[in-house]
Amino acid sequence: MRVVTKLPDALPDISPLAADFPIFSERKEGLVYLDSAATSQKPRQVIDAVCEFERKYNANVHRGIYPLSEDATERYEGARKKVAGFINSESADEIVFLRGTTEALNVLALSLGIWQLKPGDEVLTTVMEHHSNVVPWQMLSWKGVRLKFADIDSEGQIDMDDFATKLTGRTKIVSVAHVSNVLGTINPVREIADMAHDNSSLLIVDGAQSAPHIPVDVRKIGCDFFALSGHKMLAPTGIGALYGRYDLLRKIEPALGGGEMISEVHQNGCTWNVPPYKFEAGTPNIIGAIGLGAAVDYLSAIGMENVERYDRHLISYALSRLGESDDIEIYGPHDIEQRSGVIAFNLKGVHGHDTAEILGRRGVSIRSGHHCAQPLMERLGISSASRASFYLYNGKRDVDALIDALDEVRKVFA
Ligand code: ALA
Repeated sequence: MRVVTKLPDALPDISPLAADFPIFSERKEGLVYLDSAATSQKPRQVIDAVCEFERKYNANVHRGIYPLSEDATERYEGARKKVAGFINSESADEIVFLRGTTEALNVLALSLGIWQLKPGDEVLTTVMEHHSNVVPWQMLSWKGVRLKFADIDSEGQIDMDDFATKLTGRTKIVSVAHVSNVLGTINPVREIADMAHDNSSLLIVDGAQSAPHIPVDVRKIGCDFFALSGHKMLAPTGIGALYGRYDLLRKIEPALGGGEMISEVHQNGCTWNVPPYKFEAGTPNIIGAIGLGAAVDYLSAIGMENVERYDRHLISYALSRLGESDDIEIYGPHDIEQRSGVIAFNLKGVHGHDTAEILGRRGVSIRSGHHCAQPLMERLGISSASRASFYLYNGKRDVDALIDALDEVRKVFA
């Protein structure tokens, strides 16, 4: 993987990496893209890897014993190794390819919920979670499993006293976001892992918003499961990964059946394949995995510490520019070290959708609404927020365009 350009130490007007992303030159009207938390843009290195595979290596994996299928399998399994290295899991056998974080959390909820949890058991999460880390657990209410929410403080960080109080002998699973998709808060997952394990609870980390932005080391975190989505970290949509500690992946039952996940099937029953295949029912998203492997190569060539440092420059500049006006309410931690990737805000007296629509007309793409985090919106006492989210292809000029476009919103609503 050739990534010629490095990320600079100070924030430039235009990111030198933007040139790797064809969409910025191919959209005639120009693009100020500040919605990477929803999905990231893709560099040509990923697009090329996907095209090359489709042109030269396409076959189903693990099924054929002819050379083309063996080539495809080798590349698919190579991508698994890359993801394993990216999050420092002990082995590639701990990486399950699924559609993304949402599917990974649903698979875990089904698998653990149906086979292991009992009526009266509890799952502890936080009030800042994405619906993907709420709904699958709520769906277990038919079984008498209860979902509890740890509160946040005024800075948008988990209230750890409340968390400790709600972590009880009934708590079998703790499932928390590594980084909030609204507040940008980086949660203390290492500390949470210790608390969960002292309580004999499993820890699941939703890494959808952390894996693209900060170095992730699942062994340092000490989590039992970690889920990520490829499309937020430069890969195509429809591919993601679930990391699970190997002993747990061996122990728990699969949630989806068919395809490569079996060992033997008879009229009177079946047995499972070994992990990770045990959790990959049906033909997997082979091309997505190839794209995710290429995205991991791209990010690794830059270095995730550099991605994180650059992200801080962007957030810090954007926070200072947004803070110049007193009609903007910003959500999330004030401490730049405690946040990553996104800034949610509201222009006083203006609905988030109106802000986003007017910004869109000025070529500035942001997301607005409840951001699939309605319990958080309720906790903050708002119905919606605007959200600008940043990535390594953004520069000062994108932030300035956002600030200028907000003036336009003020004029419309003056
Ligand atoms: N989960 C994505 C977001 O926060 C879609 O925008």
